[in-house]
Amino acid sequence: MTIGLNQECTVKLFETIGEMGHQQVLFRHDPEAGLKAIIAIHSQELGPAMGATRLFPYTNEADALRDVLRLSRGMTYKAACANLPVGGGKGVIIADPTHKNDSMLKAYGRFVESLKGQFITGQDVNLSPPDLRHIRCETDYVVGVEEKAGGPAPITAAGVLLGIKAAVEFKLQRQSLEGLKVAVQGLGNVGKTVAKLLAEHGAQLFVSDLKAANTEEVADLYGAAIAPPNEIHALPVDVFSPCAMGGILNSQTIPQIQAGIIAGAANNQLEHEQQHGSMLSAQNILYCPDYVINAGGLINVYHDMVGYSDAKVLEGLNSIYSTLLEIFAKASQLEITTHEAAKQLAEERIQRKKEGKREKGKGRALNES
Ligand code: NAI
Repeated sequence: MTIGLNQECTVKLFETIGEMGHQQVLFRHDPEAGLKAIIAIHSQELGPAMGATRLFPYTNEADALRDVLRLSRGMTYKAACANLPVGGGKGVIIADPTHKNDSMLKAYGRFVESLKGQFITGQDVNLSPPDLRHIRCETDYVVGVEEKAGGPAPITAAGVLLGIKAAVEFKLQRQSLEGLKVAVQGLGNVGKTVAKLLAEHGAQLFVSDLKAANTEEVADLYGAAIAPPNEIHALPVDVFSPCAMGGILNSQTIPQIQAGIIAGAANNQLEHEQQHGSMLSAQNILYCPDYVINAGGLINVYHDMVGYSDAKVLEGLNSIYSTLLEIFAKASQLEITTHEAAKQLAEERIQRKKEGKREKGKGRALNES
């Protein structure tokens, strides 16, 4: 079945969700509230589907659908790689951020509530804790409202630092980041803290942001050199750390990359997963799969939801380091891309949990009989 989404684009919806393994994709149109939203539930094998909601002025509905499908699947893999008992989901609201209003957010809250806890959401691009409070007027299935844990960005950045350390240890056989040249693209909530942590570890920084105020601040604070946005990925550095938007690793940029390691927070860094993952391998560039290295945010909101504990969050963060080392070793041993190795690892962990649940179920049935 094909569904026409706009004049230029048709999406084979059922074929696509079948191939990607989604359980449900739900659409909500509330013209009165100005809401057009999609929620994709990829998997609930490990627990309720968790994933933040992104509000974005998508140029067409097919782009919104592609985004929600890819991001929700990424959440399943992210949770599995981070050993969290949750599944993967994602919400997108198709809107111009300047048109965001209370009634739109409340209508979205009713949409989330209609899923009765199958989907738990939080804040992604263009949504803030005050926006989440409007959503929470209609549903309890929203996390990160009070920012009990201080927001996800600092924890995400701490995870990125651990990911850089794992990659440096694997590729360069070095424990220290002293003198390491790192190019950080994007100095927002996460990138700014990544730059700070790297500076504290003695790295030499090169930074870029579309906002001059951000680059100037980081240059002043940490002695970073400023690079133009269209050159940051191509600098002769040890590590390129994409902390801005997705799609930065593509056919145009990859041939220009001189860094031997790519380790950053941005979601969906590979424009096309297989093609661009293979191009990086062919260039002998060690790529830290985005959903593994940037899991700190999810680890943070999960513990916010179940009862915050610094020790548990630290344990979760340390697992980013060990899981990445496992992925690098697997990729090297099986001669596959790190992206493929991460996907296999996530699927193995989900399969093991499923089998564990089945065994428990059998045990209970035997005890009851
Ligand atoms: P943000 O919106 O605070 O910062 C992004 C920064 O990138 C902005 O300062 C923007 O001006 C800059 N930027 C955009 N395009 C650029 C370009 N072409 N070149 C240079 N700079 C550019 O976002 P945040 O929260 O720092 O997140 C960064 C990335 O990490 C996003 O892709 C996000 O999805 C991902 N991520 C964030 C998490 C979090 O805890 N905030 C968790 C997991 C992933």
